Amino acid sequence: MRILVTGGAGFIGSNLVRHLLREREDTLVRVLDTLTYAGNLDNLADISEDPRFEFMRGDICDHDAARAAMTGVDQVVHLAAESHVDRSIISADAAVQTNFVGTFVMLEAAREAGVGRFLHMSTDEVYGSSLTDRFTEDTPLMPRNPYSASKAGADRLAYSYFITHDLPVVIARPANNYGPWQYPEKLIPFFVYRALRDEHLPVYGNGMQMRDWLYVEDDCRALLTILDRGEPGEAYNVEAGNEHANLDTIRLILEELAKPESLIRHVEDRPGHDLRYPMDGSKLRALGWSPQMPWDEGIRLTVRWFAEHGEWMTRAVARGQEYFENWYAGR
Ligand code: NAD
Ligand code: TYD
Repeated sequence: MRILVTGGAGFIGSNLVRHLLREREDTLVRVLDTLTYAGNLDNLADISEDPRFEFMRGDICDHDAARAAMTGVDQVVHLAAESHVDRSIISADAAVQTNFVGTFVMLEAAREAGVGRFLHMSTDEVYGSSLTDRFTEDTPLMPRNPYSASKAGADRLAYSYFITHDLPVVIARPANNYGPWQYPEKLIPFFVYRALRDEHLPVYGNGMQMRDWLYVEDDCRALLTILDRGEPGEAYNVEAGNEHANLDTIRLILEELAKPESLIRHVEDRPGHDLRYPMDGSKLRALGWSPQMPWDEGIRLTVRWFAEHGEWMTRAVARGQEYFENWYAGR
């Protein structure tokens, strides 16, 4: 069995590649990744010599690269994306190209190659924001920022390839992932990075926005459950049952690093900030999956992991320097 993982040098991708090589002895893993600021071969260094692992550098928007990567592949896990909301607010260009057009190119290549399964990675953000009503997989998609809109378009494009072309597509809509190797523009690693330098933590608005935190290893198990047992054409929410207000999460980070709460600074809010993504996860749980990592343990080991990987974080932040200076100017 050969599985193609697009975006395998990123956060979730590198965790998934490691998970596959560890858990599935009969599986060969090929990664297609163009190595943007968020993708890095450092993230895969420990498995780079594994004979079951193969890396192809290429852009998912490039038909030739997509075709080449699809050769001899049984299943696809399509993760490659421009994954940060704030960047898509500065400019939606890359998000629309990679998330929508890139998904189209991968779907075409998968159809030509006749792959047995195509897992499209969507997100809880496609539903938009709700304070009370839980999103089921049948809730209409109402994305509210360019990132989530590009993901919603890709989600439905993938579905259309199932309906129109009979491509065996399954769709995952996970909550916020956290854990090792996350690029330090996202809340948890970014705030660890800043707190370690005694720099203020820029909390958007009042910090009462809620996120459901899913440990990345739990997400990897969820993705393989959907790949193995998901019904073609169906979407699956991956909900962790672990919602916290941002300020509470930030206080845990500070506590673990023994840093003062005076580092917290409320700054100009993200435009169109989604307040909450409450999901109903019963459809996936009926397939036998449930999250395993307790929050108290997961957040502490994640904060410690970033604190112990200071050089990795510094190199990663340096790759995004222009973005950080631009977005956080005045924040
Ligand atoms: P990430 O930003 O850490 O990694 C993205 C990877 O895709 C990088 O390795 C990057 O180099 C690669 N990539 C980007 N553009 C590419 C292109 N044009 N061609 C080839 N490779 C390209 O992202 P992540 O957090 O690991 O997210 C992975 C997927 O999961 C994305 O589809 C994202 O929308 C989705 N998702 C993420 C979360 C989360 O909390 N991180 C939650 C739900 C869904
Ligand atoms: P983020 O990690 O960007 O993920 P997403 O927006 O996809 O959920 O943000 C998580 C939450 O943290 C979100 O409510 C925005 C907030 N946040 C801040 O308050 N300040 C920051 O500097 C960042 C990056 C995020």
